[in-house]
Amino acid sequence: MKSRQFLLTGLATGVLAFFSLAQTKNTIISIQAGKPYAEVQPAMWGVFFEDINLGADGGIYAELVKNRSFEFLKPLMGWKVEQKPFVEGAVTILSRPDNTSNPRFARIKVNNAVSGNLSMTNEGFRGMGVKKGLRYDFSVMYRQSSAGVKMHIELLSAKDAVIGTAVLTPAATGNSWKKEAVSFHSAETEPKAKLRIWFEGTGVIDLDMISLFPEDTWKKRPGGMRADMIQLLADMKPGFIRFPGGCIVEGMDLSNRYQWKKTIGPVEERQLMINRWNIEFAHRPTPDYFQTFGLGFFEYFQLAEDIGAEPLPILNCGMACQFNTAELVPLDQLDPYVQDALDLIEFANGDVSTKWGKVRAGMGHPVPFNLKMLGVGNENWGPQYIERLAIFQKAIQAKYPAIKLVTSSGTDPNGERFDHLNSELRKMKADIIDEHFYRKPEWFFENVSRYDNYDRNGPKIFAGEYAGQSVRTASGENKNNVRTAIAEAAFLTGLERNADVVVMASYAPLFAHVDGWQWTPDLIWVDNLRSAGTVNYHVQKLYATNKGTHAIPALLNNKAVTGQDSLYASAVFDKGTNEVIIKIVNASFAEKTTGFSIEGVKKLLPQGTITVLTGQPDEVNSLDTPFAVSPVVTTVPVKGKKIDVALKPFSFTVIKLVMK
Ligand code: AHR
Repeated sequence: MKSRQFLLTGLATGVLAFFSLAQTKNTIISIQAGKPYAEVQPAMWGVFFEDINLGADGGIYAELVKNRSFEFLKPLMGWKVEQKPFVEGAVTILSRPDNTSNPRFARIKVNNAVSGNLSMTNEGFRGMGVKKGLRYDFSVMYRQSSAGVKMHIELLSAKDAVIGTAVLTPAATGNSWKKEAVSFHSAETEPKAKLRIWFEGTGVIDLDMISLFPEDTWKKRPGGMRADMIQLLADMKPGFIRFPGGCIVEGMDLSNRYQWKKTIGPVEERQLMINRWNIEFAHRPTPDYFQTFGLGFFEYFQLAEDIGAEPLPILNCGMACQFNTAELVPLDQLDPYVQDALDLIEFANGDVSTKWGKVRAGMGHPVPFNLKMLGVGNENWGPQYIERLAIFQKAIQAKYPAIKLVTSSGTDPNGERFDHLNSELRKMKADIIDEHFYRKPEWFFENVSRYDNYDRNGPKIFAGEYAGQSVRTASGENKNNVRTAIAEAAFLTGLERNADVVVMASYAPLFAHVDGWQWTPDLIWVDNLRSAGTVNYHVQKLYATNKGTHAIPALLNNKAVTGQDSLYASAVFDKGTNEVIIKIVNASFAEKTTGFSIEGVKKLLPQGTITVLTGQPDEVNSLDTPFAVSPVVTTVPVKGKKIDVALKPFSFTVIKLVMK
């Protein structure tokens, strides 16, 4: 029934390749291992990170306390104050003029309090995910003139049972602020825990930066990242990581743009800002979505290093989001923006004697991060973008000629805006052009030959944001189903086949919280304790972990395999492992026994491996069934230099053969 519906959808859109039901006989694909024609860039398959869908705060940034510094628009958002009896002014919010980046704090007046008289409870980001037996590290910045107030820290279950406790007896600090920390263990696993602080004694205490982190962060770094989410990235072995977005780079207006310098240094000095996805979609308002920048540019560079990915930061080009205010920086006032770019390169690559290299070293990384590329502008368009980009390009090329610039071709892969930018960027001899495609699955099949006729001597291409949309772009109903994943897999054969032009590609967006998303589809879905790769994730991972070093021809009747008989194929050779790796999509509902003849090799090992990703078109993975659709690995006998493979209906298959 489902298949029938899918056929009808396919018919309606006129995609003939989808519904070939005939069993193919004698299809032989020739893999010409002796004819490598293009290097596959080591960074080819990467990831795109943006703080959307609770990607950073409430996502990979493992902080469990929401609004820890009382800087949200509503200073007590996320906090519940309880008093018995009620005393007016027991909890107030004040500002300190000496700290412009984190001015607000909470003042607690405690009068002869005992258990339950006065407490503040933080709800976390859609609750706090805590694990039985795991250590939790509580910390707070405080000030009190005399040591009269004791703090009782309690972890509560969703039903308010106490599942972890600690006591903090802050000393007198006079007028200065002090940080104090205490750790405790959770007695239960609970996806929707809360943190309660109740006060005992008599006195006045000022509180700021109230924080709770699990012990099991990525690489056990205090104040670090959520390990299960980062592990999913590391498992992909991405060639690069693009950060921090996306539209977040542009901001709704210029004051809301991403400014990397405000995201480094001590976390308590990083100035919080509203997250632009907070109010972007009326159908998915997220009023409690802010960027604390606890995860900032230093941490992104460190993450890139940890997972072996090239860092690809994207900076604002002097234009705010053109779907929002489209605010522009006048050309004669662009200098600070350009300086930010130059300083970022120094921050990443400068030695410790440079101003920004010293800042990096001070944060614990004296060795340079070896930045090789930088994006200027996200989805910006029009002559205004080109004018601004030209100023950046001139300054960056003059000071750092080795840095490759990633430039925007706008929001869409075709149309007037795209054509204008594409031609202007080529005239400017842009290094790398970033193309975005949020399109229906049919588009991905139809565009598998998109790059076949691109100028081989022109700018390189970064397929920087793409995802099959099962409904339509920006619909909340899009699903990460097999249909979209198979379409993307087919399209990616076209990227691999054109590895001399396409140098990088990344699916977008990367993460989404099931209770806090704004955008679908997304590569990895999480709740407070669990994370699951979608079917699309497995496609990405199969490409990134089978990238090889050189593209080689995969031909059917002397032509690239771009949809004949519903097959889409590409092949690479890996000079490090001596492997021939074939990627092939069968987009029909019939199993297709297909022969592969490997040419240009002396001998092959008698057995190859075959990895198959397949399912019903509407099937998805979920947090409850994370591996419903996931790759299955088997072997295939090699007869001399030939193999026969029964390609499953609606499948993506990776075949690996080893040369002797
Ligand atoms: O990936 C979600 C958004 O889609 C990105 O922020 C933006 O670049 C694109 O429009």
